[in-house]
Amino acid sequence: MEVIERVSIIRDRMQALRCSGKRIGFVPTMGALHEGHLQLLRASAQENDVTVCSIFVNPTQFNNPDDYRLYPRTLGQDTALLESVGCDILFAPHAEEVYIQQSKLQFSFGPLEAVMEGEHRPGHFNGVATVVGKLFHFVQPHRAYFGQKDLQQVAIVKQLVQGLSFDVEVVRYPTIREEDGLAMSSRNKRLDTGQRQVATMLHGALQLAKGQLGRKPVYTLKATVEAYLASAKEIKLEYFEVVDPDTLQPLADVQPGQEAALCIAAYVGPVRLIDNILVNLN
Ligand code: PAJ
Repeated sequence: MEVIERVSIIRDRMQALRCSGKRIGFVPTMGALHEGHLQLLRASAQENDVTVCSIFVNPTQFNNPDDYRLYPRTLGQDTALLESVGCDILFAPHAEEVYIQQSKLQFSFGPLEAVMEGEHRPGHFNGVATVVGKLFHFVQPHRAYFGQKDLQQVAIVKQLVQGLSFDVEVVRYPTIREEDGLAMSSRNKRLDTGQRQVATMLHGALQLAKGQLGRKPVYTLKATVEAYLASAKEIKLEYFEVVDPDTLQPLADVQPGQEAALCIAAYVGPVRLIDNILVNLN
């Protein structure tokens, strides 16, 4: 696997690969790789000639300085994992080169960012859109792979691609979970043993709500989720929403035949986790 740090070098390398007719798959990450990332990489390796992974802990998308400071950084281990899944190029740029000057760009995604992560993490999607736009310019991929785990992020990236006419196909890949249902996340590494045990209740809450979907109004589902999580002292629920999977707008009710996304965000101790499931109501 080639490891490239410099922006000018990745640009030239990717330009040459594109000119020689190679199909390029791209998996942008912030590192601390786990099976969720690796599945995206395997999918890319299978569906493209060349797979590029970027590892860049993007400062502009963290609205909490502690979250940025404490974000796990495990480059040595990540490099070995990338080799094992057939990644061809690791692009690991330095922040000074990605942000030569402080970015003053302001994106607006309208209603898409007025809810959930957009509402609770001001500036987050502006940072995501800025860095994903830059990375798409550097890597020039044909396809880019994103996890359903960050459902709203996928919708934002799709709107970015459409709005700025990037010639990139955005692929959404299902969420990979631990055996007990907890969605894999780099932030799980920060949970202590007790927190790790109760963290599985996030997925439990989604399953509980799924069981009531279509039979009870959404506000009742919210009350059920709140009551269930209130039993765990370490968990502080931030939101539970039932939304349209594409527009991310809240649904008051879900009818048979309709698809809904059940989305949750909560603090487990000091660590903020998110999860969601897609449900197609029969
Ligand atoms: P990061 O959190 O490292 O995630 C990189 C990609 O892996 C994202 O598309 C994310 O949705 C996906 N992913 C994470 N956990 C997953 C899981 N359990 N199952 C499936 N996919 C999973 O998301 C980011 O980085 C950043 O915002 C980034 C897009 C790189 C921009 O900085």
